Order: sequence, then C-alpha cells, then structure tokens
Amino acid sequence: MCGIVGFSSKTTSAVGPLVNGLSRLEYRGYDSAGVALASAEGLRIYKQTGKVAKLAQLLERALPERERAKYTLGIAHTRWATHGLPTVANAHPHVADGGRLALVHNGIIENYAALRAGLEKRGVKFLSQTDTEVLAHLVAAFDKGDFLAAVCDALKRVEGTYGLAAISARHPGEMVVARKGSPLVIGIGEKDVVVASDVSAIVAYTRQVIYLKDGDVAMITPDGVDIHSLDNAPVAREVQEVDWDLGAIEKGGYEHFMIKEIFEQPEALANTLRGRLDAANGTALLSGLNLSPRELAAVRRLVIVGCGTSLHAGMVGKYLFESLADVPVSPEQAAEFRYSNPIVGPDDWVIALSQSGETADTLAAVRESIRKGALVSGLCNVVGSTIAREAGRGVYLHAGPEISVASTKAFTAQVTALLMTALKLGRTRRLSREAGDRLVSEISRIPDLVGKVLEQNDAIAAVAQKYAQANDLFFIGRGILYPAALEGALKIKEVAYVHAEGYQAAELKHGPIALLSEKTPVVALLANIPGKEKTLGNVQECRARNAPVLGIVTAGDASAKAVLSDAIEVPATGVELSPIVSVVALQLFAYHVARLRGCEIDQPRNLAKSVTVE
Ligand code: AGP
Ligand code: GLU
Repeated sequence: MCGIVGFSSKTTSAVGPLVNGLSRLEYRGYDSAGVALASAEGLRIYKQTGKVAKLAQLLERALPERERAKYTLGIAHTRWATHGLPTVANAHPHVADGGRLALVHNGIIENYAALRAGLEKRGVKFLSQTDTEVLAHLVAAFDKGDFLAAVCDALKRVEGTYGLAAISARHPGEMVVARKGSPLVIGIGEKDVVVASDVSAIVAYTRQVIYLKDGDVAMITPDGVDIHSLDNAPVAREVQEVDWDLGAIEKGGYEHFMIKEIFEQPEALANTLRGRLDAANGTALLSGLNLSPRELAAVRRLVIVGCGTSLHAGMVGKYLFESLADVPVSPEQAAEFRYSNPIVGPDDWVIALSQSGETADTLAAVRESIRKGALVSGLCNVVGSTIAREAGRGVYLHAGPEISVASTKAFTAQVTALLMTALKLGRTRRLSREAGDRLVSEISRIPDLVGKVLEQNDAIAAVAQKYAQANDLFFIGRGILYPAALEGALKIKEVAYVHAEGYQAAELKHGPIALLSEKTPVVALLANIPGKEKTLGNVQECRARNAPVLGIVTAGDASAKAVLSDAIEVPATGVELSPIVSVVALQLFAYHVARLRGCEIDQPRNLAKSVTVE
C-alpha cells in the first residue's frame, strides 16, 4: 500500500533515481524499504527496516560509486506491513527462482494462503510471512521464456489488489509492471523510463506520464513501454502532462509539510475557487459535473461517501446541502456503506470524497453505487486518480499535492467545493437569486478569511503550551460545527498521539461527562452560529466539573470568552464558512501540540497517506 519505484535506462545508473524516488514517497509513511538492482551478472537485493536514509547508507557501504554504473535497471519499495512484522525478511523486494527474480508489491493478495500451500507442496521454500512472496514464486513458476506472459499467468490466479514491478535475470533489460486496485504511473523521460506508485516520485525526471488502469500489465525497456491486458492483448493509454512541478512537493523553508500545507490554504482555496463562481447568476459553474439543470433537479437524495478527514468534510456537506438545496443527505463511512447492501438507485446522487482518489474503501463504494444505477461523481484532489476516473464526472480540488499524512488543505478545499456544489444544486431549486448572490460573495472571501486565522498562529502556539500535557481531550461542536469537532480530534490523535474524542456538544452530558476533570480539557467550537448559546451552556457544565475549556470563538465575542479558560479567535463568517475557519484553527492547535510533544509530525506512526487496502 505504500510505495513502488522502478527505473530503466540505457545509460544512467538506477541506484540514485531509485533512492531519490523512495525519498519522495517517504511522506506516505512506511516501515521498511528495499531495492533490487540488475546488471549483466544478475540481481542484487538490499533491504532495511526503518528510514530510506538507512537503506541509502547500506547502499553506500555495499556499492561504491564506481560499481553503480552497471546497474541501469532496478525496482524499489517502501512497505506498509499488512502481512507479517516489519522485518528485513518481510521487506520487499521478494525473490524467487534462486534469486534470479525480484518483485515488489503494494496491496494485498487475498488468496495467498491457498497459493502458498500449493507452492509449498511443490517444494517451494518461503523466506517471509508476507502475502507478496507468493507472487514472486508464481511468476517464476509460470516463466516459460516470456516474462510478460508469466506475470499475466500468475496474476490470473490471484485474488486481491496489487501494484507491482518485477525484474528477472532471465530477461535482461526488462521490467514488468501491473496494477489492480493500487496506483501505478509510468513516467516517460527522454532517455529513461521511471515507474512509481505516486507521481511525486517521477516529476524530478519527467512530467510526461501514463496512468495505468486496473487490469493493465506493461513491459518496460529503455526503448519504451508496451501496455497489455491480462489476456495479453495490446491496449493504448494516452501520455498526459503533470501540471505541477518539484517545488510543490518540497518543504520550501517550512519545518514540516503539515505546517507548509496549513499555510498554503489561502492560495490552495483560491485555486479551488478559480473560475467557478458565477456572480452574474448567483451560482457556481462546475463544468466537470457535466449535469444539466434537469438532471440536477431530478436528484431526490444525496449520499456522500468518504473516510477519515474526507468523511468529516462530507458531514459538513450534509448541513450545506440540506439548508441550501433542500435535499436529504446521508454522509456515510465508505466501507460501512459499501458492505451494507446500500439502498441507492437512479434518484440518488452519490458524491465520493477523497483527497488521494485512491482510498480502497471509497473506491469500492463508488463501484457499488455505479452498479446500482446511482448518479456518481468524485470530489478528488489528485488529478487522474482512480476514483476521479471511475466516477467519470466530478470536481477537482486543485489544492496542489498534499504530502503531510495528516490532511489539512484538502479538508478546507473539500468543504469549499461542496459549498459551491450545494449552491449550484440549490439554485436549480428553491434558493433565491438574492441568497445565491450573498453566498457567492461569502464564498469568495474564503481565502482571505483563512489568511486571518493563520495570523493567529503565534497566539495558537502559546495556547497549545497550556494543553500540550493533557493525555485526553474532548472536542465538542453543534450542528455544522460537530464534524469540525471530529476533525479537530482526529488531527490531534494523528499527529500528537493524544487520545481525543469528538462529540456533539449536547451529547457530552449523556455519558462522556463522567470522564471530565481538571486533567481532561475540552475544546469547544463556539463560532457565532445558531445554537452557540446552547453550546455555551454545555461549556458551563464542563467548567462546573473543573475541566479547562479552550474555545474557538468569533473575534470579539466577549460573552463567550467570559466562560472560557482560553480562547482562539477566528474571523466572523456566515454559518456555512464557520467549519472552515474553525478547523484551520484546530489544525494549527494540533500541529503545535504535536511539536511540543516532540512527535514526528509528517509521518505519524502506523499511518499511511493513501489507504489502498480495504
Ligand atoms: C487524514 O488526516 C487522514 N490521514 C485520513 O483519515 C484520510 O483523510 C483518509 O484516509 C481518507 O483519505 P482520502 O481523502 O485520500 O480518501
Ligand atoms: N501486503 C504486502 C506486505 O505486507 C504489501 C504491503 C504494502 O503495500 O506495502 O508486505
């Protein structure tokens, strides 16, 4: 699920490009890494647990510079363990055919146990506990002289998901790659071909890329790329140009990607909005949806599917669509939705939210909804990603690459895009021209309003000092700010490893209040929206149990501040924008708490950037 890099050249050593490529994938989170290098003498394998830098050191020691030139072909991997502990033996590449064949894999082979038992019966000795190793042995077993055909034959026996790359000393100069359920991109350079599971490992070499589709298998040599189906029939895939460069995936002077991306939000959100507000008609233009007013008017119900932060943005969407477009909305955790035999059909519009566009649970929900005849659209950040392509219609966030595992700018961009979609849908129904005009001008203020929250960074860092020692935190919010509370709790769990829970403000007294004490602070979302007074009442209940309460309040709200232990101010907005400004404040709060606790902010333990396993 983590990262793959492959490199093939006539002249250039693969060692540097493979290690650089792996470093570019580090942000995705992983537990071990390895490379396989091919020369005329055969394959050499190097594996390490931990950081790519450790693997680079191992290579420094094992392969002096002068020896590297002969390795012009290689594959590399960062692993996010699913089967077997993160050990050197379980790290990829996995080998077969007496070390002549090496293979790296992202995903899960679901029928690996049966395949392994069959191979063991035929005398194959396994060196790891991974599901992946069966793939290596299967390919070797099917190799009758045609490497691509061997991979196809092996994959026909496999159930599950894979992005993979394989090389073999029996087939010098050849690399075979394949995908089903895990992304794989081929970069076409002037003299070299680079393969990776993520385009960020490619842009240093070329911006000309081919996105493989599920079921594609490709033969890569220094001379070019041949793409086939699993039945070995040739398929054509177009070469596309990546529209961003290396600068977008480097830290640019910031200490962490997370803080860089938090600060990028005004610009990212301006890009989400660019050319999409129609002031003349008080609505939004979202041409990627490709839906006529008649089709929009026919929608009876909306289902918004996503996971994690994307799910929280979808929950904000419920309030937006229900209040602006008078349409009932069910936000659904994508995996739960998919396995619930969901009741969806032609009257329903399913919007799939995913920053990466590769989340397996969300993709499965998209496929299930398409099967049931619903109208399906994607709301993704990564252009060309699987969900965006399979949904066939949608809105891109255009927020730029998000490298930090903890999602920040994608959330605010998702809420902004959902707000524009709700405005558009509302204007096909009962939302008046005047209300549309008000929203257009409100939405166009989003980048500036977020900029105002960022001006509070120092103040938020100071407040964070007072809360950084807490081991448990509650986040409470009401109405449209309830999902913001969930998102605040998720951010602090992910980056600061603090146990945190998000609750509806009114729910606290139905049980969780039993846990409050002077050691269990509460973060209350108190921006000025209808219901705020009631939340203030809930704050009083917390204070009466000695819990310190930090409030996120509208600037100048003296009555709220009077009942709080501490406050962070956000600019005044209409109700629709309140989750955006509040969550930006919570992102900064989580970041500073994590920093004070000395956490590894950009690569939190156990997490991966895009979760391509179900
Ligand atoms: C967010 O901080 C998380 N790392 C995670 O919850 C994430 O939002 C989730 O895995 C969904 O990812 P997606 O938006 O790429 O589909
Ligand atoms: N399932 C494989 C393993 O555990 C691949 C994991 C990955 O995608 O990194 O080794």
